[in-house]
Amino acid sequence: MFNVHIRQSERTIQVEIGSTILETALAAGIQYPHGCRAGNCGGCKSRIHSGDVELSPYSEFALSQDEYENGLILACRAVPWSDCDVSWCDPDDDAVHAVRNLTCQISGLERLTSDIASVKIKLDRSEKFDYSSGQFAYITFEGYPRREYSIASFESDELEFYIRKIEGGLVSTFVWDYLLVGETVDIEGPYGNLYYRSDHEGPVLAIAGGSGLSAIQPVAIEAVTTNPSRPVFLYHGVRDESDIFRAELFIELANEYECFSYIPVLSEPSRASERRTGLLSEVLEQDFNSDENCMIYLAGPPPMVRACTEVLQKIGVNSTNIHADPFFTEADLVERA
Ligand SMILES: Cc1cc2nc3c(=O)[nH]c(=O)nc-3n(C[C@H](O)[C@H](O)[C@H](O)COP(=O)(O)OP(=O)(O)OC[C@H]3O[C@@H](n4cnc5c(N)ncnc54)[C@H](O)[C@@H]3O)c2cc1C
Ligand code: FES
Repeated sequence: MFNVHIRQSERTIQVEIGSTILETALAAGIQYPHGCRAGNCGGCKSRIHSGDVELSPYSEFALSQDEYENGLILACRAVPWSDCDVSWCDPDDDAVHAVRNLTCQISGLERLTSDIASVKIKLDRSEKFDYSSGQFAYITFEGYPRREYSIASFESDELEFYIRKIEGGLVSTFVWDYLLVGETVDIEGPYGNLYYRSDHEGPVLAIAGGSGLSAIQPVAIEAVTTNPSRPVFLYHGVRDESDIFRAELFIELANEYECFSYIPVLSEPSRASERRTGLLSEVLEQDFNSDENCMIYLAGPPPMVRACTEVLQKIGVNSTNIHADPFFTEADLVERA
């Protein structure tokens, strides 16, 4: 057992050998900031002032090598090997919202493409729910394990999510094949480090792969509507023409705001197309050759997020300006463990 002092709580907890700082702190009733508890989101990023911890595997999007070398750790992955003194990194004011646990009802279901559905969830009018564009919530459908889904929109007490059916996926297959309007669902959130940075005045590069549009759409909309003179580029990578969704919304925005560009990118077009084609990372490489003070938001399949991040870093974008939510699934977690 090791003593771990947590500066903001002014408490010292006893962490069993093999346990993480986060799980012990939460069990002790400390409101330690966190999200996924699995090394994916960066929500529990902390500074270690003294002592040794071992970090179990985590995503490089949650904690970069630079951050690690500068004394930052993830409390959800940190198993102490000595007494420690730690403090959590204070989340940006933009992203501080009370985490709510709500029981709600499915209010809308619509198939948008051959594998992406819009799922709408109505909150009780008396419930307060606040979030920052880009964040996600955990959804628990009755009888199924909870999963993370990014909030695509929140209007008139209704949250909307875009959920992609994954081959062999427990929850997404249930959503696609069996979920009905009127069913009860539990929501916990908001969480996540991908959120719109309102203090950045420069251009915004919003990049989504498939259902990653759920996180990126609200960021792009807020970026252009709150500062209409700043360039906002929305790239949406899909396989083929029929996989594009919500195009009408973005075409309307592009007509209204001169600085807004909507660029769908087809990776596997089934016939000749006037659209941009190729992988999102290849198209980014063609379009950008310097960082131009862009703030970058990325969400979607982990390989796409990784490839785009590499391209952006190659052209000199500072990693502190890249905010990414790779949509990890159980398969990725098993692979990493
Ligand atoms: C921050 C975040 C935000 C997200 N936002 C969205 C979103 O907006 N929209 C969206 O569609 N998705 C999103 N996701 C992904 C989502 O949370 C789910 O992971 C996804 O829907 C798959 O869940 P599932 O239960 O259908 O699949 P799972 O049952 O988790 O299975 C996924 C894949 O893993 C395989 N698998 C399952 N268990 C194992 C195992 N033990 N060993 C090996 N392989 C296994 C399955 O065969 C399948 O191919 C997000 C993820 C994160 C981390
Ligand atoms: S809670 Fe630790 S990385 Fe998400």
